[in-house]
Amino acid sequence: MNLKDANNYIEQNRVAGALRPLFHIIPEVGWMNDPNGFSEYKGEYHLFYQHYPYGTQWGPMHWGHVRSKDFITWEALPVALAPDEEYDCQGCFSGTALQVGDEHVLVYTGVSEGKQKQCVAIGTGTDYVKIPENPVIPGDMLPEGFSRVDFRDPKIYKVKEGYELIAVNFSEKNLGQLVKFSTKDLRNWQYEGVVLANDGSLGVMWECPDYFTLDGQEMFIFSPQDVAAVDDELHNGDNSVYTVRGSGKFHEIDYGLDFYAPQTAHMSDGRQILIGWMHSWKNDYAPAGVLWNGMMTLPRELKLIDGIMYQTPVKELANYHLDKVEHELILDGAGELPKVKGRTADMCIRWDANKDLKVSVAVGDGHHTDIIYDASARSITFDRRYSGITKDINCLRTFPVHGNDALMSLRIVLDYNSVELFVNDGREAFSGAIWTDRAADGIVFNTKEPTKLSVTYHNVGRR
Ligand code: FRU
Repeated sequence: MNLKDANNYIEQNRVAGALRPLFHIIPEVGWMNDPNGFSEYKGEYHLFYQHYPYGTQWGPMHWGHVRSKDFITWEALPVALAPDEEYDCQGCFSGTALQVGDEHVLVYTGVSEGKQKQCVAIGTGTDYVKIPENPVIPGDMLPEGFSRVDFRDPKIYKVKEGYELIAVNFSEKNLGQLVKFSTKDLRNWQYEGVVLANDGSLGVMWECPDYFTLDGQEMFIFSPQDVAAVDDELHNGDNSVYTVRGSGKFHEIDYGLDFYAPQTAHMSDGRQILIGWMHSWKNDYAPAGVLWNGMMTLPRELKLIDGIMYQTPVKELANYHLDKVEHELILDGAGELPKVKGRTADMCIRWDANKDLKVSVAVGDGHHTDIIYDASARSITFDRRYSGITKDINCLRTFPVHGNDALMSLRIVLDYNSVELFVNDGREAFSGAIWTDRAADGIVFNTKEPTKLSVTYHNVGRR
C-alpha cells in the first residue's frame, strides 16, 4: 500500500458533498477512526486521522489529512502517511504533531511484525517524509517486561530543553501505563520512566494519551479499554477520561454513545481545543450502501473550573449561524415553535431545573431522536431508537447532570448525522450519531406541566 494508490483511489471514489455532514469531518471515502496530529501549523489548523480508504471497516492504517482556517470548513488534503515502509507495513497508527521551526513534525506508531514503535515524519503542511532514522523509539528502549506489542499513540510536546512524548504501553502486570521519552533533536530519544499507570481500577489497556496544561493545571487524557461501568458513568466499554495530575480522580469526558480517542491541541490564540472520534469500536454502525464510516466531533474549547473540564463548541460556529430565532414561552404539553426546525442547527434551551423536559429532534415520518431531562433523577436520557438505524446497536444512554443549578441549560448542536449536547455551559457533553433521513427536520418540545422555556435557535449553514 502506498500514498499514490490511496490518493488515486480517493480521487475516483470520493463521497459527494451533498451526502456528507455539513460541518463535521468524515473521511473522503472509507473508514476513519482516531483524530491524529491535531495542531496549528503556520496559522492554519491541521487534523490527520486514522484512515483506511479502501473500505468502510478498519484496515491497514493511513493518515488522512484535512486543513481549516476556522475549525468549521475543512479542506481535504492528500493522504499524509501510508504503511509503505518495512517498519510500518502493518499500519501507521495514531500520533500527534507539532510545528518545529518551519516544519510540521508528525510522530506516529509504526507497526510491523506485530510490534509497535515510534516514528517521525516531517513535512510542509501537505507532503510528509518519513525520516531515515525511523523507528526512532523501538520497543527495545523500554525496560524489560514492558510490552513491545502494545506501545503506541505518542503525544509530543515542547519542553524547555527540547521535546518529550508520552505513549501508551502494556506493563508487566498486563495493565495500561503511560511512558515518557525525551529528545533534543527528534531523532535521538531517551527513556524517562512511567508517568501514570493503571492500578487495575480503570479498564485494562489505555490508548491515545494526551498531556497539556489547562488553566494552570497539568492534565492527562487517555482512553481506557474494557472498563466496567459504575452507576451512570463509563458505559461504552472503551471510554475516554481526563484527570488533573495528582488529583487521583478520573472523569468521563463525553457520555455519548459515540466518542473515543480524543486529542487536544494548544492554539496560538491561547485556546486548548479538543476533538474526538464520534464513533466507537463496540457500537460500530454505518448503513448499507454508505461509503464512509466514522466522523469527528465538533472541535471544542476547554476550560477547567474547580477541577472539572468544561467543553463548548468552538466560537467560530457562530460565524455559520444563518439566523437567530428567540422564544420565551410557557409550554404545557407538546409543541413546535415557529421557525425552530432544521437538521443543521445550534440551539440553546433554558428552563427550571426542577421540571422535566423532552426535546425531540430529527422528527418526521416516524423518526425522532429524543433528549429527555428527568428533574427528579437529574439525568438526561438520549434515545436514538427511531433515528434511521437498522441494526440492533445500543441506542439509549442515560447520563447524570452534576451540580445544583436552579436553571438548566442545554445546547444542542445538530448536523445531518449527529447530535452533540452541552449541558450547563459544557459541564457535561454527549455525542451521538444518527442516520435519520434528512427530510425529518422537525423539533418538538414536551413538558408535563406548565414550564417556562427560553429557546435561542440558529440554523447553521454557509451563506
Ligand atoms: C484507538 C486505537 C489506537 C491505535 C489506533 C489504530 O482507537 O486503537 O490505540 O493507534 O486506534 O487504528
